[in-house]
Amino acid sequence: MAGDGPILEAAGIVRDFAGVRALDHVSLTVGRGEVHAVVGQNGAGKSTLVKVLSGIYRPAAGTLRVAGRRVTFASPRDAERAGIGTIHQQANLIPQMSVARNLLLGREPRRHGLIHVARMNELADDIVRRIGLRIDVRRPLASYSAGTRQLMAVARAVAASSSVVIMDEPATGLDVADLDRLYTTIARAREAGRSIIYVSHRLAEIERICERVSVLRDGRLVHTGPLANLSRLRLVSLMLGRRPAGAAGATHPPGMDTPSTGTAAEPADPPILQATGLTRRHVLTDVSINLRSGEVVGLSGLLGAGRSETAKAIAGALPLDSGQVTVSGKDLRRRSVIAAVRAGVGLLPQDRTTEGIIANLSVRDNIVLAALPRLTRAGIVSNARLDRIVDTFMTRLRIKATSPDQPAAQLSGGNQQKVLLARWLAMHPRVLLLDEPTRGIDIGTKTEVQALIDDLAVEGLAVLLISSDLEEIIGTCDRVVVLRDGAVVRQLGGDDITENNLMSLLAGG
Ligand SMILES: Nc1ncnc2c1ncn2[C@@H]1O[C@H](COP(=O)(O)OP(=O)(O)OP(=O)(O)O)[C@@H](O)[C@H]1O
Ligand SMILES: [Mg+2]
Repeated sequence: MAGDGPILEAAGIVRDFAGVRALDHVSLTVGRGEVHAVVGQNGAGKSTLVKVLSGIYRPAAGTLRVAGRRVTFASPRDAERAGIGTIHQQANLIPQMSVARNLLLGREPRRHGLIHVARMNELADDIVRRIGLRIDVRRPLASYSAGTRQLMAVARAVAASSSVVIMDEPATGLDVADLDRLYTTIARAREAGRSIIYVSHRLAEIERICERVSVLRDGRLVHTGPLANLSRLRLVSLMLGRRPAGAAGATHPPGMDTPSTGTAAEPADPPILQATGLTRRHVLTDVSINLRSGEVVGLSGLLGAGRSETAKAIAGALPLDSGQVTVSGKDLRRRSVIAAVRAGVGLLPQDRTTEGIIANLSVRDNIVLAALPRLTRAGIVSNARLDRIVDTFMTRLRIKATSPDQPAAQLSGGNQQKVLLARWLAMHPRVLLLDEPTRGIDIGTKTEVQALIDDLAVEGLAVLLISSDLEEIIGTCDRVVVLRDGAVVRQLGGDDITENNLMSLLAGG
């Protein structure tokens, strides 16, 4: 590579959306072989910047240089040709096509104008092996989990001969083992002289893999510099524009001291939800979980351990070969989502863009959608009441939108997630199944969400919390059920919920 100036320079970038200045004269300089973090609260402008750098948006003002040369991108292809590869927050893969095809999308090897399938599969096999995954590249991408698909997106961008790889929250959906693969992939890319722009909300991760950081706040660049010597508190203050209220980590609800026996002793009172012997061939084997009113129970496990499947099974969204779910002692015999919702069981699914947000509906409608039947008295809904609910959740979850009437599609990724969370909370369910509720949510709101979960438990809700964030599990849960290969391996309670215990159980030690 010629020259040793910065590989990428963005200067004075401006981008407006109707009424919102998403980027206000933002500049970013990335050195060769550098891993550069971009951080900021939900809606700060990170994904918008990524989209400008990758040719999806044209900036209203500002300039871009790659290896010192001035460039303008009319399309994502232009950016790719200039050596910028991107993994977007909402991965742009095609689930119905094979893994191989997805990996080489747009760069498929051809012979006589046709895709050379054997060669394509060979190349794909090689890419997959290099990131340490053992999967069949001929199978459709859809047959693999969200985490695997995310790793695919990473592998795809790194495999393209890009000099800069931009990753917008690539760790989303990855468990501990896959995270390691991601870090290895990044380390290799860097050894090969590539630069990486890394957008993430996980500060520990950033401290581990990045050298420099740029902080965005309300569309402005408020800081850029080396990560060494920058304390976590200072970084968070820069993001929030204030000192964080209380350090990270939620509080335990009082009076839930479980004795520290080897296998967690469950409280004596009857559970509100009883799932017994949930079984589905190759997916779940005899999984039983009880939830009591006021309890937050964690569900831990690696990717593929069956966490999301367990939640879906309880919510009636996954057909079972056998098993039983009762709510307040009543058997949910008709196993369907509607039956579960009627019984007061709500599920916040993991894959929120495809399983939740209705893009062209307003923020307001997205929030009240599910609560509407409950709020309707004789077919009449009081608008004032709806407004109050929408207002409460928008404030409490700090949903950044121009107004409740803004289409949900226009919100940043993290804010869309908050809208979905608000939808389920507005329903006042008796049992709430949360699949990675704080993933992609900024640190300022994360503690707020965790505190909200605590409050809801105190008000009598039973919560099942799936989270790959061990700190969150430890800080929020009264009990933890650990799954491996679709079966329960252990329950932990009280003082036994420690990072060491969880790690060794997850890993199968
Ligand atoms: N297509 C759009 N139309 C209108 N406004 C938009 C659009 N895309 C983004 N915005 C607004 O621009 C601002 C920045 O959004 P952006 O997606 O860049 O945030 P982000 O930093 O990536 O947040 P997150 O951490 O939630 O992913 C937000 O206020 C968002 O609502
Ligand atoms: Mg984003």
